[in-house]
Amino acid sequence: MAVTSVLALRSTLAGDGPPLFFPDPDVPAIFNFDQGLAAPETFPREDLVRIAKLVLDRDGPEVLDYFDPATGYEELVYGYKGLRSEIAKRIQRTQKRTIDPLGIILTSGSVQGIALAIAGYVNAGDVVIVEAASFPYALRYMAMAGAEVRTVPVDDGGMDVDAVETLLSDIAGEGKRVKMVYTIPTFQTPTGTVLSAPRRQKLVDLAAKHGFLILEDNVYGDLRFAGEPLPTLLELDRAGLVLQCGSFSKIVAPALRLGWIAGTDEAIAGLAAVRQDLGVGQWLARVMTQYLAEGLLEPHLERANQVYKSKAETAVRAMRRYCGDYVSFREPQGSFYLWVEIDERVDWETAARMAEREGIFFRPGERFMGDTGGRQYLRLAYSHVSEDVIEQGIATLGGIIARCVRAAA
Ligand SMILES: Cc1ncc(COP(=O)(O)O)c(C=O)c1O
Repeated sequence: MAVTSVLALRSTLAGDGPPLFFPDPDVPAIFNFDQGLAAPETFPREDLVRIAKLVLDRDGPEVLDYFDPATGYEELVYGYKGLRSEIAKRIQRTQKRTIDPLGIILTSGSVQGIALAIAGYVNAGDVVIVEAASFPYALRYMAMAGAEVRTVPVDDGGMDVDAVETLLSDIAGEGKRVKMVYTIPTFQTPTGTVLSAPRRQKLVDLAAKHGFLILEDNVYGDLRFAGEPLPTLLELDRAGLVLQCGSFSKIVAPALRLGWIAGTDEAIAGLAAVRQDLGVGQWLARVMTQYLAEGLLEPHLERANQVYKSKAETAVRAMRRYCGDYVSFREPQGSFYLWVEIDERVDWETAARMAEREGIFFRPGERFMGDTGGRQYLRLAYSHVSEDVIEQGIATLGGIIARCVRAAA
C-alpha cells in the first residue's frame, strides 16, 4: 500500500513552509522586542475575575450557550448583541458616528475581521491598495483571496494619498478594478506614522468618487500618549464605504480574542454573508459588555497610555544613547513600536544575526515589505517588556551595531 507523506497532501495555499512567523524556539529570547503585545502589568485582572463571576451568577447558564435566546440566531453571525450595543455607544461618543448593532460584527480578534472583510468583498484579480510597509497577516489574507496588491509610499503624514489617486487612474487604465484600500491611519504599523487630517478627508472623498471600500485598521487608535487625536475615516465617511476594525487585544488583553468591524448595516452584511464559525464566545463577550457598561475602559486606557509613554521615552533615550547616528526613527505619539532604519554604514545582515545570538528579538523590516525592501529596517516593540530590559537590550544592540560598522572605503 502506498504511504503518502502528509506534506504532499497539502493545498497549494499551505505550501511546504513552516507555520507563519514563529521565532526560532531554540534561541532564548532575552530581549524580546518581537511581537506587539499589551503590557501584562496593565491587564485589569481583578476587574476581569470579578466580572467573569458576576455575569455567570447573574445571567445563569445562557452565558455558556452559543447565543442569547432573547436575541436569537443573529448572534451566531454577529456575536453577542449587548457588546455590539456597548461598542456602538462608545463609537458614538468618541467618533461621533451613529452605528446600529447590525453595523458591528464581533470577531475573534480584529485579524478575523480583516479576513472576513476580504472574504466578503475581494475577488481573485481585484486590486487592493496598501501602505508599502503593512501588517503581514492582512497582506496574507489578500494573497489568499487572489487579490492583486499594489503599494503606495508612507511618509511623515502617513499613506501618500496623492499616490493612491495616481494609482487609481493607472489601474483604471489597465482595465482593472480597485476594490479596497487597507490602511492603518493611526499609529501605522510598522512605521508609527499618523495619516494627516487633509489626507484622511481626501481618502474618503476618493472612495466615494471611485467606489471602493476603505478597510480602516484602528486597533492602535486609542493608544495615544502625545499629540491631538484626528477624526477617524469612519467618522469622515458619508458614503458608507468605510469598514473600521477595532480590538480589545491591544487596549485590554489579547487573550480575550475579541475584536470587531464597524460600518453601515449594509457594509457589515457583506462580512456576515461569509461568516460561518458560529460567532464569538458569549461569556467573554458579556464580560466585556459589563466592563464597558461600568465605565472601566477609559480610566484603564489613561493608565495604560502612561505606561506606554514612559516605555517609549526609555526606548527613544536608549536608542539615541547607544545607537547614536547609526539609526533613525520617528518618536512615537502612541502605540507600541519604534520603526528603526539602520544606516548603510552598518553591515546590518551580520549585526542582525549577532543580535539574534545574543537573544535580541525584533521583527525584521522585510516582514512588512515583502520583496520590495525593508532590509535595513527593524520594528522594535517596547510595549510588553520592562524598562530595564528595554535599556539593556538596546545597549546590547548598540554594541553590536558599533562592531558591524563597515570600514570606510
Ligand atoms: C495592525 C494590526 N491589526 C490587527 C492586529 C490583530 O490583532 P487582534 O487580532 O489580536 O485584534 C494586529 C496585531 O498585531 C495589528 O498589528
